[in-house]
Amino acid sequence: MKFSTRAVHTGQTPDPTTGAVIPPLYISTTYEQDSPGVHKGYEYSRSQNPTRESLEAALASLEEGEACAAFASGLAATNAVLQILQPGDGIVAGHDLYGGTFRLLNSVFKPWGLEIVRSESADPDAYKTALAALKRPRMVWIESPTNPLIDIVDIAAVCEVVKANSDAHVIVDNTFATPYLQQPLKLGADYVMHSTTKYLGGHSDVIGGAIIARTEKLLEPIRYLQNAAGLIPGPFDCYLVQRGLKTLALRMDRHCANAQQLAEALTGMKGLARVMYPGLPDHPGYAVAKKQMRAFGGMISIELADGFEAAKAFCSKVNVFTLAESLGGVESLCSHPPSMTHASVPAEERRARGINDGFVRLSVGIEDVDDLIADVRQALA
Ligand SMILES: Cc1ncc(COP(=O)(O)O)c(C=O)c1O
Repeated sequence: MKFSTRAVHTGQTPDPTTGAVIPPLYISTTYEQDSPGVHKGYEYSRSQNPTRESLEAALASLEEGEACAAFASGLAATNAVLQILQPGDGIVAGHDLYGGTFRLLNSVFKPWGLEIVRSESADPDAYKTALAALKRPRMVWIESPTNPLIDIVDIAAVCEVVKANSDAHVIVDNTFATPYLQQPLKLGADYVMHSTTKYLGGHSDVIGGAIIARTEKLLEPIRYLQNAAGLIPGPFDCYLVQRGLKTLALRMDRHCANAQQLAEALTGMKGLARVMYPGLPDHPGYAVAKKQMRAFGGMISIELADGFEAAKAFCSKVNVFTLAESLGGVESLCSHPPSMTHASVPAEERRARGINDGFVRLSVGIEDVDDLIADVRQALA
């Protein structure tokens, strides 16, 4: 079946006991056993939970992977993947990453013994160079579109380079694109990571994460950690994310259409030094995005020409956009990465990577686009 059908139905078979069209929420922490060790497949909710399994089945299906493990947050999912590595193992991290991923790598896993080399840019050759610098390359971590520069990484090209030069696994943080716009496993990646907090949940009312693996075998060590380290989401959170999945395709179509129109309108507005959106033909990643994505996504970054004070004023003058962290909900949000989501990245590194003080990130919601354009226009004025 096609994407939208699977988004509505996978893991959502009507309840055989009552006929309830929406399967009940399984909140029980524990399950009756007929005799010690003899049960219906469920013992204790950290280890197995039917509501979580429904969500995992849907996410695996949407990413076209064999298996999925859901987590309590995007960072809990990232943590689980990094924990399958051993001290001394090496990881290539993309040039532009969510600040929390950067913090976890640098302040937790580096002291623990992971060797981390950043790719210098989105270029596949930069990934090759970074890979060659590692003593024991085991993993390559890609984000595309990246947070917050909205750069595009050619996922198929990086996978090819990695497979030709090592036996490292490639993992793609697909939070910005969602499986509706981009399916990294079909482009050669081994794992997909999600902050389900964003577009998959879609309504800014649940924190969650997930790892989807190309094969059951690849997921085994991660599923082990899901239980052994107890990084699980609660059943109600799983239910909320699954409810979000059912409208993902509809919402993404609107997010993308709104973002495209807003980005085009922004390019003509005064006071901006840069507009970063891969759907603009002069974006350096336009051709690759066109090739690997169904549409260009709902995230735009802008840089105000007059720096920090201008960015601060802009963020407090918007009315339809709300100044808040996070992204991917139905409502439009704006944020100032240097002082918010990416405050944990040292200032000199931030600036070297082009995240200047006038930088503002827009998560374009599903409101009427005329109101969004008018809001940004008056805030800039
Ligand atoms: C691209 C990306 N990956 C991962 C995360 C972390 O997810 P969570 O906040 O659900 O832990 C975020 C959060 O903003 C994100 O934007």
